[in-house]
Amino acid sequence: MMTKDDSISKHRPQDASFSWPTGEQEVRVLSHEGSELTPLAHQVLKMSSVKEQLIENLIEEDKVSQNKVTIVGTGAVGMACAICILLKDLADELALIDVVADKLKGETMDLQHGSLFFNTPKIISGKDYSVSANSRLVIITAGARQQEGESRLNLVQRNVDIMKSAIPAIVQNSPDCKMLIVSNPVDILTYVVWKLSGLPATRVIGSGCNLDSARFRYLIGQKLGVHPSSCHGWIIGEHGDSSGICV
Ligand SMILES: NC(=O)c1ccc[n+]([C@@H]2O[C@H](COP(=O)([O-])OP(=O)(O)OC[C@H]3O[C@@H](n4cnc5c(N)ncnc54)[C@H](O)[C@@H]3O)[C@@H](O)[C@H]2O)c1
Repeated sequence: MMTKDDSISKHRPQDASFSWPTGEQEVRVLSHEGSELTPLAHQVLKMSSVKEQLIENLIEEDKVSQNKVTIVGTGAVGMACAICILLKDLADELALIDVVADKLKGETMDLQHGSLFFNTPKIISGKDYSVSANSRLVIITAGARQQEGESRLNLVQRNVDIMKSAIPAIVQNSPDCKMLIVSNPVDILTYVVWKLSGLPATRVIGSGCNLDSARFRYLIGQKLGVHPSSCHGWIIGEHGDSSGICV
């Protein structure tokens, strides 16, 4: 990224004294030695000034993000979250964290190369939690997922261990963040994250049965031949084998 120092102004002849015409006033552009600059040199100097102004206005390098979102875990769920956040224009900075460096780099590059279609100007990633610094929202999707026939509860110890390493680092880097937990078993992990983080309960949110409720409304919509937004009902209880229907 170009800084003011790297910009063309650095290469402006040091011996030139100049100021730009205002109104009808004629301005002579002189070098320090007193000789008049050629019209071409004058034009180059003027263009460099315009370019410098444009670059300074367009690139605010030190601007602190107001709406940074970090996603921990760049698997199927993490990347679905990332695409939704970018397409819905929900963040001014998106950070991705995963333990598998190659995959993380590939996923990040895919998103960065799609920047033409997003308004989020900054997409970064890393294995270190420092990339999450100053996040407003941290979404936790890291961890093992169920194998066929396995219950969500079987994942608990593996994913609790991941939370034990991740949560203190997240809070240290973003003490004011809210956390959204998606990793399973989601309700248990949400409680664990709340305890590990020391954050107020209102800032640690689990995705609960939202996905189940969306699936339920889709299935009713299919039966009735209407859009799911016209069908209402909830799946309540723990996001797992014990949840139930509420209509
Ligand atoms: N709550 C819900 O409604 C819901 C829905 C779907 C999936 N899930 C859960 O979300 C989790 C992710 O599912 P998925 O399909 O994306 O799995 P996935 O296997 O595709 O991705 C998991 C990612 O987590 C990463 N990871 C593992 N350990 C990590 C660590 N210590 N730090 C950072 N990253 C780490 C892996 O490298 C991988 O990229 C699972 O626990 C799954 O059961 C929850």
